[in-house]
Amino acid sequence: MDQEKILAIETSCDETAAAVVEGGTTLLSNVVATQMDIHQKFGGVVPELASRHHIEQITLVIDQALNEAEVTMEEIDAIAVTEGPGLVGALLIGVNAAKTLAFAHQKPLIGVHHIAGHIYANRLEQEFQFPLLSLVVSGGHTELILMKEHGDYEIIGETRDDAAGEAYDKVAKALDLPYPGGPVIDQLAHEGEETYDFPRSWLEKGSFDFSFSGLKTAVVNQIHQLKQKNEPISKANIAASFQASVVDVLVEKTYQAAQQYGVKQLIVAGGVSANRALRRSIQERFEGTNIAVSIPPLYLCTDNAAMIGAAASIQYRNNQYASLNLNAQPGLMI
Ligand code: KG4
Ligand code: ZN
Repeated sequence: MDQEKILAIETSCDETAAAVVEGGTTLLSNVVATQMDIHQKFGGVVPELASRHHIEQITLVIDQALNEAEVTMEEIDAIAVTEGPGLVGALLIGVNAAKTLAFAHQKPLIGVHHIAGHIYANRLEQEFQFPLLSLVVSGGHTELILMKEHGDYEIIGETRDDAAGEAYDKVAKALDLPYPGGPVIDQLAHEGEETYDFPRSWLEKGSFDFSFSGLKTAVVNQIHQLKQKNEPISKANIAASFQASVVDVLVEKTYQAAQQYGVKQLIVAGGVSANRALRRSIQERFEGTNIAVSIPPLYLCTDNAAMIGAAASIQYRNNQYASLNLNAQPGLMI
């Protein structure tokens, strides 16, 4: 029997993306139009500009995704779209495009949670084994999510202040580095040495929550002190020391949670999972355990629509469809 083909759309932040995914595991096309250069000038994502560029790109990106997959709308079984969380104006462009296509072509509509998407990006590479733990680290999220079966998400830890990616972006700004900060700090850290002993926020014993705002403040204070004393600032050493602190806490808490919940698989998901030090450190910490570690290839780490199609496949099989009243939900909980 043919497996379902889903056309997926993602516009929650600054990437306009469309993809066609077959059976939840096979990627037929994956088109991402990034707006990064537009927002870079402003040092962060400007919501109004994001919406405007999504409008310009959305139909082109969808057409390209269908063309590259060599499928027509008639061969598509459902339309999936990120309904939240994200920037409301940005989400609305994707949601309206998806509703229009679903109505015009009489196809079922599926609303997908952005974080479920980041997790399911991994299923395009490797079948899931439950119980499964996901470390979700992006610009807006830092969560440990336990899954006992498909589509079932229990948050066992989350950030109490900044998300990990947000901390990267803020530290980059303090160092006068471009947006987004993650990839730049990742590269600089590679060239530097851990010469500063920045704090690691473990919180109460047994807690799987995170906190990165204290670390961010410590880094910013250190930069101010160096400036005041007219001492040279080694951006590479600050980046290396900051990154070591973030990675230590992420990896250790993830390891402890994986042990406590006896999981069979660990997934790392979201933009920060592109980080080289995090990828290496997770692999090293889990080596010798019988927990399968899955970290997506780089092109599936940051926002894309392939992951939305992969997550939507589970909802398709469970007949979890949305009505044409589907709306953007900027604060949607998983
Ligand atoms: O998942 P994503 O593309 O968008 C959100 O849903 O937020 O994640 C973007 C975040 C940004 O904060 C960016 O700085 C961070 O992921 N990021 C990285 C790296 N690549 C992207 N952080 C650390 N190291 C990287 N290599
Ligand atoms: Zn994301």
